[in-house]
Amino acid sequence: MSFLIGEGMTGGYGGADILNGCTIAVDKGEIAVIVGPNGAGKSTAMKAIFGMLNLRQGRVMFDGEDITALSPQERVLKGMGFVPQTHNVFTSMTVEENLEMGAFIRRDDYRQTMEQVYELFPVLKQKRRQPAGQLSGGQRQQVAVGRALMTQPKVLMLDEPTAGVSPIVMDELFDRIIEISRTGIAILMVEQNARQALNIADKGYVLVQGANRYTDTGEALMANPEVRRTFLGG
Ligand SMILES: Nc1ncnc2c1ncn2[C@@H]1O[C@H](COP(=O)(O)OP(=O)(O)OP(=O)(O)O)[C@@H](O)[C@H]1O
Ligand SMILES: [Mg+2]
Repeated sequence: MSFLIGEGMTGGYGGADILNGCTIAVDKGEIAVIVGPNGAGKSTAMKAIFGMLNLRQGRVMFDGEDITALSPQERVLKGMGFVPQTHNVFTSMTVEENLEMGAFIRRDDYRQTMEQVYELFPVLKQKRRQPAGQLSGGQRQQVAVGRALMTQPKVLMLDEPTAGVSPIVMDELFDRIIEISRTGIAILMVEQNARQALNIADKGYVLVQGANRYTDTGEALMANPEVRRTFLGG
């Protein structure tokens, strides 16, 4: 049994099902990557795992417990961190206020965690008093990841963390994500930059129409001629 698994997930937003029995899993210290065409249901799968979607069928198991009925807030308390694809920072608040918002569930002293976030993303320390809306796209994504880390999650879920950033910034962000995973946190990530993401993935999922099309190691998916031709541009 995986540390986190959305198993046989079926459901949608009230109309036709968007997820059709898809299964996504990740273990501690591992990076799992979901790729697939636009509209495949990647974000919907992430929302389902985080509890933002009612499943008609399937379940979500986390750390040996069935959490299918829990709200997103309750899942955060259990140790899930989620960075959504859009609107993932408070643009009018400063960088530091964003990180403080991330710590909202903590009753203990979170300053050490904030220092760890600043060590991971030094530019955020420099810019800690600036409104997040003034930052570059890549820096904003750092704020969003940092905010999620403030709860000291056991699993970090990232929906397209490198959307709209340059290749250099993407590489840097991936390096930081690898660093986070090495601390023992499970990483579940949706990526548009499929090749680069599968390159750092222990496990990859190709999702099509809400169902698993291919599941394998990142390396094996990259080597699969059919996956390459159909999903990785040759
Ligand atoms: N809030 C919503 N209400 C109704 N339908 C939605 C909602 N969000 C997404 N959908 C629909 O669900 C399907 C899957 O969308 P989803 O955002 O999960 O895809 P995705 O794989 O993340 O795509 P992208 O690569 O563009 O981010 C699409 O048909 C979309 O129109
Ligand atoms: Mg999406």
